[in-house]
Amino acid sequence: MEIKTYPDPCLRIKTRKVEKFNGDTVKMLDDMANIMYANQGIGLAAPQVGLGLRALIIDTGDGLMSYINPVIEDESKERSKLEEGCLSLPGITVNVTRPEKITVRAQDAGGKFFLKTLNGLFAKAIQHEIDHLNGKLIIDYLDPVRYFLAVRSLKQAKKNKQNV
Ligand code: NI
Repeated sequence: MEIKTYPDPCLRIKTRKVEKFNGDTVKMLDDMANIMYANQGIGLAAPQVGLGLRALIIDTGDGLMSYINPVIEDESKERSKLEEGCLSLPGITVNVTRPEKITVRAQDAGGKFFLKTLNGLFAKAIQHEIDHLNGKLIIDYLDPVRYFLAVRSLKQAKKNKQNV
């Protein structure tokens, strides 16, 4: 397992619901956590490691949590901007405006449903990861000119890395 970086097609992959909860699910989440921590991330979604599944992990400082098949049930009208980065888009940050507070329904590693209301960084990070499950990246929030420039610099950086 490794982090896939833009323009890897995995990042635009169609994800499917996790139906089976067993030892493989636990192993997958465990592997994802190791990769996330090794890269100092606060969240990681399955497509970022090449898996087309609706699963993400998050740790914004309150411990590791898994959100399987997450659905946003409710969101606040109040929105705020946050400068977000992404492990799959090295060197890029984007100011993204999102609801400040959300309520998410999801399943844990054992398949048990839970409902959680989140705000602040936690809420922003979960929304960022849920975007990944829908093939959406922070660069998609940019205007066309900035999008073009970001894509160009990402592709150039990847090319330079391959040439080393
Ligand atoms: Ni990301």
